[in-house]
Amino acid sequence: MMSKLTLVSATLMATAFSAPMAGAASLYNTLSGEAPVVVAHRGASGYLPEETLGGYELAMQMGADYIEPDIQMTADGALVAMHDSTLSRTTNVAAIFEARNGGYKVSDFTLAEIKSLTVVPTGALSSPDSTYPGFTPSMTDAYKVPTLGEVLDLLTEYNTTNGTEIGIYPESKTPYNSAQNQAIVATLKDKGYDEPSDKVILQSFVFNSIIEMAEASDEQGVSASFAQLGSVYTVDGEYGVYGSDGFNTLTDIAGVADGVGVSSGGITEAFITAAHDLGLIVHAYTFRPLSEAAAFDMIQPMLDWGLDGFFTDYTDFGRLVVDANAPAPVPLPAALPLLMAGLGGLVMVRRRKAA
Ligand code: G3P
Ligand code: CA
Repeated sequence: MMSKLTLVSATLMATAFSAPMAGAASLYNTLSGEAPVVVAHRGASGYLPEETLGGYELAMQMGADYIEPDIQMTADGALVAMHDSTLSRTTNVAAIFEARNGGYKVSDFTLAEIKSLTVVPTGALSSPDSTYPGFTPSMTDAYKVPTLGEVLDLLTEYNTTNGTEIGIYPESKTPYNSAQNQAIVATLKDKGYDEPSDKVILQSFVFNSIIEMAEASDEQGVSASFAQLGSVYTVDGEYGVYGSDGFNTLTDIAGVADGVGVSSGGITEAFITAAHDLGLIVHAYTFRPLSEAAAFDMIQPMLDWGLDGFFTDYTDFGRLVVDANAPAPVPLPAALPLLMAGLGGLVMVRRRKAA
């Protein structure tokens, strides 16, 4: 799919944000009519070290529809999965390296240096020894900082082995970095993530980064969808999103992106309706329920409003809520008479035509 920047026909879109076919019954009140998606925020970050291969693997086993890596560029131009702009909170960097430029910025370290670090658990339900009951990571170095390429390799291997169609939702982290945006798209292309069926959503808090990644996707022949991140905001009564580079109306965003990822606290039913009216999906960040009951309390009201998906540190709880919203299948004893009646009607019509 070409990005909206050069989109010829929206009806050709067959991506994660595809609209329901005319006349088809919608089973959910999402924009597509399909089930809301569960996005594994920084992997299984509530349980295992965030943004690691081990964490992404556990999240996929828990039923994630998408895995989310935050992407930053190292001093030598590699792309790594890391949320914070510094290595301090999530790794053992302080025990291994001296501070540089007064700190531990990701962009001050080479890939080789970052690879020598271990990511430490920070989630509310994580154990100090980076284990999760019943889970054994399939890879060595499960809790090192991975590159975007390594995350994509894991995703490919997992989907191939398990027959799943899990997607990836990479965020180009702030500050605005043109080389980083170009490299993210180039890595997707290099790893074969360029078809609509690959389920790629690129996100950023910076509207210019969305534009740049959309342009790069068109140039490099990568099919992806795009989501603008930020907070729900209104200016002069018009809904929009306040990101890192200011406010953009939903109308502006709809000209480039396919959806918005917004802070859950500001989401209302009216906002979701306004976004849907413009063909934009709405994803919420970030749900951190510490129990199943808390997950239902947090998430269910927004699903009732038509939320299209959400980021969560606890994919297992998120999966539970979404699955509880699945329409009940018509039981066979009830379905059979309906089927027989339908077939009987067809026979009658054929007989009348014959007569
Ligand atoms: O990208 C959606 C969500 O992850 C935004 O929050 O700060 O965790 O990247 P953050
Ligand atoms: Ca993110």
